[in-house]
Amino acid sequence: MKLVAGNSNRPLAEAIANYLETPLARCVVRRFADKEIFVEVQENVRGEDVFIVQSTSAPANDHLMELLILCDALKRASARRITAVIPYFGYARQDRKPGPRTPISAKLVANMIVRAGADRVLTLDLHAGQIQGFFDIPTDNLFAAPAMVSDIKDVMANDNIMVVSPDVGGVVRARGLAKRIDAPLAIVDKRRERPGESEVMNVIGDVSGHSCILVDDIVDSGGTLVNAAEALLKQGAKQVTGYITHGVLSGGAIARVMASQLTELVITDSIQPSDAVLNAHNIRVLSIAPLLGEAIARTAEEKSVSSLFY
Ligand code: R5P
Repeated sequence: MKLVAGNSNRPLAEAIANYLETPLARCVVRRFADKEIFVEVQENVRGEDVFIVQSTSAPANDHLMELLILCDALKRASARRITAVIPYFGYARQDRKPGPRTPISAKLVANMIVRAGADRVLTLDLHAGQIQGFFDIPTDNLFAAPAMVSDIKDVMANDNIMVVSPDVGGVVRARGLAKRIDAPLAIVDKRRERPGESEVMNVIGDVSGHSCILVDDIVDSGGTLVNAAEALLKQGAKQVTGYITHGVLSGGAIARVMASQLTELVITDSIQPSDAVLNAHNIRVLSIAPLLGEAIARTAEEKSVSSLFY
């Protein structure tokens, strides 16, 4: 087995390599003067089972292009099988046409990854599970839930927990976590009564006196999370914590989270956390490296990956 890392999240790739006790393959991914990407794999990969660790996080297009070029280089170097390990799959939110004459970019990106030479995909908490079907190659969608559950048990063991979905679209994900920790479930339903009027947050479920855990796949601007937290506190929640897999945290998101009433936001390192994230007083990062490492090991040994989650 060989592990190859792009530039999107080197610390995560190194942590996975440590878990697997396998060094990262010697490989340079650099830019020409005009910013074209150049890749050189500096060791033999002929006949190898190769795993490329690369999130297509910001700058999404550069990181995607690195992944595609890495696949091409490995294919041409006669790797036996190439698995694209994509802890954060960017473009996932563009998974359907929101209006006429709009693209389905998630499908386009999946096509490009397959066309570049990937034989398998390993990814984590896809925005929508059915994106797996956009790849016409085996695709495993892993869940950060086991890591979150063990953290929740450590940190909030004696709290009167209620799991909350911050929008109607996230109910299945939130229900999954609630089941694992045997907690009740509530839903924040955002509604705009009339065009031009601001959104009303209706909380479905009695959250008063509960320590609420907001669960989501992505925190980007932080708006969904912070607004949902406010609505829960208004309804009498004792405190609100966010457990969100992918810390996209663009624009003023970190400042928004820091200024919010959230007790804590817990994210994973599927996207490399910036210094600002690491220094934020109420943001904590859980490492997903052991889970990804174990899934890679099982894939290499042709063992079950789904059994990791039962
Ligand atoms: C949306 O469907 C996603 O699950 C997240 O709720 C959304 O991407 C969060 O975005 P933001 O942090 O910008 O509100």
